[in-house]
Amino acid sequence: MKMVLLEVRDLKMYYRAFGGWIRAVDGISFELERGSTLGLVGESGCGKSSVGLSLLKLLPPTAKFMSGEILFDGTDLLNLCPEDIRKIRWKRISMIFQNAMNALDPVKKVGDQLMEALTVNVNVRKDEAKKKAVELFERVGLSADRMNSYPHELSGGMKQRVIIAMALVCNPELIIADEPTTALDVVVQDQIMQLILELKEKFNLSIIFISHSASVIAETCERICVMYGGKIVEQADVRSIFKSPYHPYTISLFYSYPSIVGEVKKLISLPGAPPNLLNPPAGCRFAPRCPIAKKVCKAEEPPKFEVKKGHYSHCHFAMELDVRKIQSMLEGLT
Ligand SMILES: Nc1ncnc2c1ncn2[C@@H]1O[C@H](COP(=O)(O)OP(=O)(O)O)[C@@H](O)[C@H]1O
Ligand code: SF4
Ligand SMILES: [Mg+2]
Repeated sequence: MKMVLLEVRDLKMYYRAFGGWIRAVDGISFELERGSTLGLVGESGCGKSSVGLSLLKLLPPTAKFMSGEILFDGTDLLNLCPEDIRKIRWKRISMIFQNAMNALDPVKKVGDQLMEALTVNVNVRKDEAKKKAVELFERVGLSADRMNSYPHELSGGMKQRVIIAMALVCNPELIIADEPTTALDVVVQDQIMQLILELKEKFNLSIIFISHSASVIAETCERICVMYGGKIVEQADVRSIFKSPYHPYTISLFYSYPSIVGEVKKLISLPGAPPNLLNPPAGCRFAPRCPIAKKVCKAEEPPKFEVKKGHYSHCHFAMELDVRKIQSMLEGLT
């Protein structure tokens, strides 16, 4: 069995729009080992959900893969016909969609919605579906009598547990969890994250967590990809990246969350806006907001540097960054 379950190579997925292409996923590469957790983190609009949806090939007709490979267990998903993709989608890779709990059908009991997912995807008989739905409810910490509830009768945390049960319907190997806790309060967020991690251990799942919050990713993931403007700008093991980030954007992102670096007194909210992906800036996409940008940054796209083993940064000055200095410059900007 291959250790690497998923290998994404130079993936480009654009959306056709009035006036050109929105470069939502613009040349990203990463690997996910079997049974491990990977986090995609970055501001809203940087392309995180588009990466997740690309992996399942669940995209609108305006979307187009421009280049790249998505090797899942050695097979390039981009080469598969719709019928073969259906054998993988939900069965081997499933997804917890952003805002999914708001998409539960309000007029159907949640147990019936889960049973429907079972009969459609697993091809089980109705009586078997009921038994399996009860098992799934218990697996995600819901009592069986909750099957008769309508979505409005459940708390946010309970609804998210139903959504997680739906993602588990076909015993997938990989789950993509897109902002699974964003709408929940902090205590419930923690419980949901714990649940996902428990399920991961129990069933040897591989998980891609997507979040705009560096602290959520820090607490749950072994490896992190930091996205900015449709690209991965830094990626590394969680320890390495939090100990010493090698990209100015990562530094700004991490220092907006006091729980990660307790000694920082001032929160940083990065001024300016993320790039317009219809017409992104030349060179480094972070240059218009980067406190240490130089002429070269606006002219040339930064190459990928391996700053330490397995730790990559796409910054012209990755090897000479002064984290403290950048941090105080960022504080000065806010
Ligand atoms: N269905 C779509 N059609 C056109 N543009 C889209 C679509 N979905 C997302 N986008 C655009 O793609 C970019 C990345 O969006 P998204 O993947 O949702 O980012 P994130 O999940 O990081 O917030 C944004 O510029 C967004 O406006
Ligand atoms: S390449 Fe230049 S603009 Fe981009 S992050 Fe590095 S220093 Fe800043
Ligand atoms: Mg998103």
